[in-house]
Amino acid sequence: MEISEISTTKPTNTSDLGKVYIETYGCQMNEYDSGLIASLLKKADYETTETPESSDIIFLNTCAVRENAHSKIYSRLQSLGYLKKKNPNLVIGVLGCMAQNLGDDLFHEELPLDLVVGPDNYRSLPDLIKEIRNTKQKLSLTRLSKIETYDEIEPQVIDGISAFVTIMRGCNNFCTFCVVPYTRGRERSRNYKSIVDEIKNLTDLGVKQITLLGQNVNSYSDEKKDFTFLIENILKNTTIERIRFTSPHPKDFPDHLLDLMDKEERFCSSIHLPLQAGNTDILTKMKRDYSKEEFIDLAGKIRSKVKGIGITTDIIVGFPTETEDQFLDTLDVVQKVKFDMAFMFKYSEREGTVAKRIYADDVTEDIKSDRLTRLVNMQTAISHENNQEKIGQIYSILVENTSKKSKRELSGRTQCGRMTVFPIPEDKTLDDYKGKTVKVQIKSSTSATLKGELLSE
Ligand code: SAH
Ligand code: SF4
Ligand code: F3S
Repeated sequence: MEISEISTTKPTNTSDLGKVYIETYGCQMNEYDSGLIASLLKKADYETTETPESSDIIFLNTCAVRENAHSKIYSRLQSLGYLKKKNPNLVIGVLGCMAQNLGDDLFHEELPLDLVVGPDNYRSLPDLIKEIRNTKQKLSLTRLSKIETYDEIEPQVIDGISAFVTIMRGCNNFCTFCVVPYTRGRERSRNYKSIVDEIKNLTDLGVKQITLLGQNVNSYSDEKKDFTFLIENILKNTTIERIRFTSPHPKDFPDHLLDLMDKEERFCSSIHLPLQAGNTDILTKMKRDYSKEEFIDLAGKIRSKVKGIGITTDIIVGFPTETEDQFLDTLDVVQKVKFDMAFMFKYSEREGTVAKRIYADDVTEDIKSDRLTRLVNMQTAISHENNQEKIGQIYSILVENTSKKSKRELSGRTQCGRMTVFPIPEDKTLDDYKGKTVKVQIKSSTSATLKGELLSE
């Protein structure tokens, strides 16, 4: 799952209870949750605002997946201290995975902090804010739930023509390096009808593309209805133009999902398939439940079943005990599978995980850095090669925005997920194209972007 830059809340109407500012860190599930929180608070008559300076309540919705996610929040809280000095009534809260991970311990850090609330307790926020205002006490609530799915709350966080829709919460996999099962609790799926309804409402608001979110989407299960059933239902009962999802787990990957992806134009041919490591012994120590060969075979099957598929991944280097030879297995898989893009990380030891309990973090920082650099270099060359092969091809691009570099260039993605930019015809603007699917012929490329020309409609 992609870990994004910080994003913030958009303003709403005025209210007496005060203005809430939410800053979001971590993955797309947190972005969706910030939308849930904003929705819940609006229902309770709070207003939202875009800057911490103009707010009465500041929430940082946090991540805990690597140590640097934690350090970012400590320094952000310290930097907000001046606002608390100016306005002693200001309420500052830490929400999300770091809140769940550290709980009350966060109060011992001499930070300007009143409230700590975990991902399953957002419904209590209005009451907790009231209590803090009445009692001036610091409060925390980090009870994990086996059932909370926030099913009926529709955050409607729309970014241009795209939106996220969380379909399940929590994770039961317990990969030994990962803190998520501890911060997000047990796996639970949303009701499929409420997901379909949410997508219908999003399309009414002009959304063309949705990304279904879950830590492990192929174990989606609602009344024995599986993930493929959910996709079929969305295809049948909504007019959404593009469906994406992140992330599936490589163990027990369903074949019928691949057939559906190949057959259905609206179900995008793109899969984020986290590898984590290429060596079978390391994968066993990570508790990933597949071997090097099984992963390579699965990637091969995906490529042969779904024409033009884009495959992206996550990889960790320097898991405890990883030797140079074992790391070379990771490079070998990367070379063989030829991912279109990868998120690559150095192993970061996390409190509470099995890996921390049974292994010393014994790969040195220098070795981790060296392995990461070699991996990134190899992957960048492969991404570049994959993109070069697309030169001359014609793709359907759903136009999302102008490109980051030029207002006279449009940007959007291919079905297989590649970012593509191309010039806007002289007499036209973004508004003429936003949300439309156009044909673009690729003329050149870098490792990250395809560049093309619009073909006449
Ligand atoms: N289930 C999600 C994973 C969410 S965490 C998914 O499959 O996409 C996103 C990524 O962070 C993981 O895939 C993993 O590569 C990385 N990650 C998780 N824990 C980590 C740790 N302790 N150190 C380094 N990277 C980690
Ligand atoms: Fe973490 Fe593994 Fe669950 Fe992903 S599948 S959230 S990596 S425990
Ligand atoms: Fe996401 Fe970070 Fe939590 S990756 S699930 S916000 S630990």
